[in-house]
Amino acid sequence: MNGPRITGKARLAGVIGQPVSHSLSPVLHNYWLARHGIDGAYVPLCVAPEAFDTAIRGLQAAGFRGANVTIPHKEAAFAIADEVNPMARIAGSVNTLVFREDGTIQGTSTDGFGYIASLQAEGVVLPALAAREPALLLGAGGAARSIAVSLLEQGIAVRLANRTAARAAELAASITAAWTKHAGQSGAGVSVCSWDSWEEELRDISLLVNTTSLGMAGGPNPAWKPDLSRAGSDLVVSDIVYVPRETPLLRSAAAHGLRTVGGLGMLLHQARPGFRAWFGADAEVDEATVRHVLAALHR
Ligand code: ATR
Repeated sequence: MNGPRITGKARLAGVIGQPVSHSLSPVLHNYWLARHGIDGAYVPLCVAPEAFDTAIRGLQAAGFRGANVTIPHKEAAFAIADEVNPMARIAGSVNTLVFREDGTIQGTSTDGFGYIASLQAEGVVLPALAAREPALLLGAGGAARSIAVSLLEQGIAVRLANRTAARAAELAASITAAWTKHAGQSGAGVSVCSWDSWEEELRDISLLVNTTSLGMAGGPNPAWKPDLSRAGSDLVVSDIVYVPRETPLLRSAAAHGLRTVGGLGMLLHQARPGFRAWFGADAEVDEATVRHVLAALHR
């Protein structure tokens, strides 16, 4: 594969965050740019919260095509966008900005898309899940919100469990309100169950998703030992943590012979809509892409 090609006509995009040095997005997008031989570059942009709007207007003035937005700017990105997709409106946050030629900004939330695409890439048949029991989501942060909404969109009911019960209740209420406004009363809904007994819920669950930092290397409890003994044999188990690649949850699921979906797929797939919009090509998520990103992760 040739190296990057950056001429005077290069298409430019980047990722805005603070901190941003841990972001894998530059490695991923520049890999795809080189692979497609596209004249372009994707750069990390460390921006303080109070400088966010100035930075966006500056990037627009400098001819950037757009940017990804990560912590702590996802709500500010939502606010600065002139137009957002329904998923971003329901999630109240945006992770992908496209600067249009007329000076307006389009904002989208692609995390939910990335999650659903990662399940499909592993052969999970979503209509089959929708026809069965609800999904159980562990956690109540921003990632839980995006994933819950994307599951509802697939017709899959969602049950939430979170250590801080009030956060789960608040998230369930706010997603239900936003979803009802978007889709009407029809379809799947969101309920809450106790954090202390989520493992007992497993027999009535079709899909388990960990969106907490439990099991993450360097996280609050890397040695987490979830008990999946009550799971039905067709439970699909997914984790959005991707360091380590085989998390304690996925290890436990594999030991019970359950189908597993790791978190790297979501990270890679959520980047595809931005790449398409800025650089005009369809990015592939295949073994070569995974190997390239993993090498950067372990560098
Ligand atoms: P994000 O927005 O990226 O999803 P977040 O808001 O920091 O992240 O949420 C992290 C999630 O991990 C929360 O659901 C958090 O639970 P609380 O709401 O109770 O804080 C969960 N979490 C973090 N450490 C945990 C631990 N030791 N045990 C259980 N849950 C934990």
